[in-house]
Amino acid sequence: MLISERLKNIKPSGVRRIFDLARKMKDPINLSIGEPDFDIPEPLKEEGIEWIRKGFNKYTPTQGIPELREKITLHLKKKGIHFDEVMVTAGVTGGLLLASLALINPGDEIIIPDPYFVMYEYQVLLMGGVPVFMDTYPDFRLREEELVRKISKRTKFIVINSPNNPTGAVYPKEDLERIVRIARERDLVILSDDIYDNFVFDAPSCSCIGQLYEKTLTFGGFSKGWAMTGWRLGYVAGPKEILQQMITLQQYTFSSINSFAQKAAVKALDFDVGDYIQGYKRKRDIIYEGLKEKFNVQKPQGAFYIFPEIPGGDGEAFVERAIQNNLFFVPGSVFSKRNTHVRISFAASDETLFKGIEVLNRIG
Ligand SMILES: Cc1ncc(COP(=O)(O)O)c(C=O)c1O
Repeated sequence: MLISERLKNIKPSGVRRIFDLARKMKDPINLSIGEPDFDIPEPLKEEGIEWIRKGFNKYTPTQGIPELREKITLHLKKKGIHFDEVMVTAGVTGGLLLASLALINPGDEIIIPDPYFVMYEYQVLLMGGVPVFMDTYPDFRLREEELVRKISKRTKFIVINSPNNPTGAVYPKEDLERIVRIARERDLVILSDDIYDNFVFDAPSCSCIGQLYEKTLTFGGFSKGWAMTGWRLGYVAGPKEILQQMITLQQYTFSSINSFAQKAAVKALDFDVGDYIQGYKRKRDIIYEGLKEKFNVQKPQGAFYIFPEIPGGDGEAFVERAIQNNLFFVPGSVFSKRNTHVRISFAASDETLFKGIEVLNRIG
């Protein structure tokens, strides 16, 4: 057989039909985008360009340039995150892949709260692991009984993502404490994907698992907070025992990470994006106020997504109806074992949001 056994469970998205339909749309009202609608702030672009001009264009140390690792260390220490090693990665995506490679044996079970960022499921499958989904509907909270029900002798780690894609939920500290208590009892690792940690709307900051538990791998990145999605830059911090293996793996996979982007990222960690976040809070209010009468919906506390339940409970059919009305967003089934909700991104202009809200209320 030409294609490896490893890929036998890796399939194109089940909703490809919907994405095919969306591709044919001309000038759609697009509320499907998973990246900020602002560009990289000018001073950070300038910093990247300057380092390219200075000739900082060669391979860099596998683990990341020392000044960025120092900066990330300070940033995480200020947040009170436990870790003893840090590395720079090719986005959070690259970090997650290295962690999966380092930790998952075939047959190991990985607990993922549902709804979830779809990459977790597929990286686990790629390693021959078994994703085990822990339901968080209807209010997207982490429940102890549900976690305990899903843990088995084969459980290897738990993945937590807060603020959450696709729900916009920010897990309260008491939810995280419950998860930590159980993880500690069973000596489980937790992977904490904190990529949206500066998109928090109703509190100065959010609680992170890494503040509460030493056996946490904390993932952070520059894609969302500083709009550097195309520069592919992230980091992982955590226990030395795991990080050292991930650094070795990086040597043989990614080799090293984008040179100029690392230099710009040193500056990014001091660059205040508070105004952008305030702008997104306003957009959150626009979309939530615009949908709450017609839809059963939780108010997002972070990230830039809202995840309403669809009257009648068929998210995919609803997206097809929206496409017929020139509006596009993503069915919840892409992020969940349920098809009852849809993910709407509010990383869009106000004009696009208002147009989208009008259509949603008309067809809902
Ligand atoms: C929850 C979550 N984690 C990770 C990523 C990927 O991040 P990166 O661009 O750093 O690879 C995304 C991107 O959408 C995301 O939503």
